[in-house]
Amino acid sequence: MESPSEKQTILVIHGPNLNMLGKREPEVYGKATLDDINTALKETGKRLGVRVETFQSNHEGAIVDKIQEIMNSHQGLIINPGAYTHTSVAIRDALLLLSIPVVEVHLSNIYKREPFRHHSMIAGVATGQISGLGSDGYILALEFLARRSQAAA
Ligand code: DQA
Repeated sequence: MESPSEKQTILVIHGPNLNMLGKREPEVYGKATLDDINTALKETGKRLGVRVETFQSNHEGAIVDKIQEIMNSHQGLIINPGAYTHTSVAIRDALLLLSIPVVEVHLSNIYKREPFRHHSMIAGVATGQISGLGSDGYILALEFLARRSQAAA
């Protein structure tokens, strides 16, 4: 029989250019590829007893569509909106549709970088933010969301 925790599903959304991880400015974003990160997230999900789904898009509207899709089906969301972090009112508005915990993750510490990266459109509507811990940030976010969703089940 399925245990209550196995019914919990967490979605991870990766925004634009994150499909190029490994090749893209490795000194900033690290050497891990998106596949490496997604594999580690799925393995961690198994250990924690939650389902992990992953999604990547370079398109703002596709990210909005995906957020709308999970309104009633998922128990948590991890999102790295990439450059849309700093610009997207549409992604922020879509997140306001959700009543589940949302963790914003950035591989790099956006506050140590160019001034235009210091402002996040997302932070004000997310449950919390992890910035600058590299790919570990996703795993820590997943541990938090698994704990939250199992406590609420
Ligand atoms: C990023 C930071 C953003 O400023 C940048 O545009 C990205 C990646 C990060 O994970 O550090 O694409 O979200």
